[in-house]
Amino acid sequence: MKTVIIGTGSFAPPRVVTNDDLAEIVDTSDEWIRTRTGIVQRRISEGPGTTWMAAEAAKRALEDAGVRPEEIDIIIAATTTADYCFPSTACEVQGILGAGNAVGYDVSAACSGFIFALHTMDALIKTGTYGTGLVIGADNLSKTVDWSDRSTCVLFGDGAGAAVVKACESGDRGVICSQLGSDGSKASVLTCQARSMGNFLTESRPEPGYIAMEGQEVFKFAVKKVPECVDSLLRDAGTDIDEVKYLVLHQANYRICESIARRLKISMDKIPMNIDRYGNTSGATIPILLDELNRQGKLCRGDKVVLAGFGAGLTWGAMLVQW
Ligand code: COA
Repeated sequence: MKTVIIGTGSFAPPRVVTNDDLAEIVDTSDEWIRTRTGIVQRRISEGPGTTWMAAEAAKRALEDAGVRPEEIDIIIAATTTADYCFPSTACEVQGILGAGNAVGYDVSAACSGFIFALHTMDALIKTGTYGTGLVIGADNLSKTVDWSDRSTCVLFGDGAGAAVVKACESGDRGVICSQLGSDGSKASVLTCQARSMGNFLTESRPEPGYIAMEGQEVFKFAVKKVPECVDSLLRDAGTDIDEVKYLVLHQANYRICESIARRLKISMDKIPMNIDRYGNTSGATIPILLDELNRQGKLCRGDKVVLAGFGAGLTWGAMLVQW
């Protein structure tokens, strides 16, 4: 049984915040942000949060796939910025869509989340447990950044992407293989403290934590682990990198992507980018980019594409898909 992506969708909130806008609230500049990260602007959700964006992306993916909500068997949402500790984002989206025959739950792997969710979906589909699934990557990091910390607040944005998948018994299309990794010994390199921190029988309710990051450590980790993981994935699949049309990489920093391209000895033409428009939307970057490629007609039947992500945990993962 193969897991085939039959539709994609994405959504970003309408409010555009440029680098110049940020230069009015912290000591930074358009030039610094562009040259260090490749980011020009990001979208920020001013009111509604992750569920809203996830549901909008899901509706677009369902429309693209020609699948009705009641046909979905399972919804897996990847997010670390759910609007609530519970219910899950997946259950909330299920309610909004009216996907009454589905089961829904979230996975948490930060910016690697979409790969982890799609990997989980693929494993369940391969066993024959479910036939039609919805995988979502959605994050609302603007509500977790410290807007007075210039070293992190310039990097992130809000958005959501989704893919509808279907079990197919025959054919070459679909997920070929995937590899995931995590290293909890480096967990402190990139953190955001949970919001449910009130203490038993005390009045104490600590202030919610914000994203804290050792930027250079994350940079070094990403440019080492991602090429290693992609190499290993392709070796397992018996596929040469020249056969891969696109490496759809997590959009965290243009320079990270360039460095990964150099290490894999591939041209940046193979690494589509949209970080300039969205910044780092965490679990949403890969499905948003995939949706853009799909809608621009850049993915043809038979194309091989590698999806690869990295992020807090530390986590990383890569997946080879035949379109
Ligand atoms: N504007 C202007 N100056 C800034 C700034 C900003 N937004 N943020 C930091 N600086 C300053 C620092 O204070 C420092 O100044 P100093 O030399 O006077 O101390 C200087 O710029 C260099 O800071 P540094 O942290 O060494 O910069 P860098 O070249 O490592 O770039 C990142 C910082 C965050 C862009 C880079 O480390 C990075 O992208 N890391 C990966 C982060 C990431 O992708 N996280 C998410 C992963 S999923």
